[in-house]
Amino acid sequence: MGFVALEGVGKVFQGRTGSWEAVRDFTISLEEGEFFCLLGTSGCGKTTVLNMLAGFEAPTSGRILLDGKPVTGPGADRGVVFQGHDSLYDWLTALDNIGFGLRLRGLPRSERRATAERFLKMVGLTGQGAKHPSELSGGMKQRIQIARALANDPRILLMDEPFGALDAMTRAVLQAELSRIWAETKKTVLFITHDIEEACALATRVGVMKRGPGGTLKAVVPVDLPFPRERTSDGFMRVFREVHALIHEEIHGGH
Ligand SMILES: Nc1ncnc2c1ncn2[C@@H]1O[C@H](COP(=O)(O)OP(=O)(O)O)[C@@H](O)[C@H]1O
Ligand SMILES: [Mg+2]
Repeated sequence: MGFVALEGVGKVFQGRTGSWEAVRDFTISLEEGEFFCLLGTSGCGKTTVLNMLAGFEAPTSGRILLDGKPVTGPGADRGVVFQGHDSLYDWLTALDNIGFGLRLRGLPRSERRATAERFLKMVGLTGQGAKHPSELSGGMKQRIQIARALANDPRILLMDEPFGALDAMTRAVLQAELSRIWAETKKTVLFITHDIEEACALATRVGVMKRGPGGTLKAVVPVDLPFPRERTSDGFMRVFREVHALIHEEIHGGH
């Protein structure tokens, strides 16, 4: 069994107008240290899968195991990075945002500070720790979110389209940074995106989802290319085309 296991996981939401099957029979096993990108069209159930692994939502069928133990709710062993940056605390400095989880765990101030400074440096923001979120650019805020998640030393990083709201150039810079941080920390990452190129640039494996209702895993494409990825290389183009063909069917209705 893998480090993370989703076994026949399903989610049916009950709404006022009836029920909606967001995810159906989703099965995947992740190895420790891998960078798994979950790719799919809008509304296919990506966030629902991540929320269930994060423990924010309970599956309505199947089960989720982390290191052999069932996930029953949120926990410090999973660090979450969201697309929007409104999850940062406006009233705290960047450094205090990074150290927030450490404060909850009761670590002494000096230790919190040292750890927060270390992760501030890791995300390339040394010297910017005294700023508040409102004084930071979108890219900087996403760096702070990543640092905050890592500061708690989670076993897995769950990232839901973290660069989706950034301009193309900032996005490319942050992708490269994340790739470096992943190599440095050897964290297991589940990264959600709807951007094929982003998935091919970052992942050790790309999981392509089928569109909903009943969104599920349609195929898993291994990306056996060295890092940093050369996006104009023949190898990259080959993987891109393979993934593109799988997604294309979901956009244009083929089966
Ligand atoms: N809390 C909810 N209640 C009802 N339906 C939901 C809820 N959350 C998501 N859905 C529905 O489930 C489907 C999958 O949503 P989501 O996981 O957010 O997709 P994605 O992240 O791939 O865009 C969508 O059709 C969405 O409307
Ligand atoms: Mg989503």
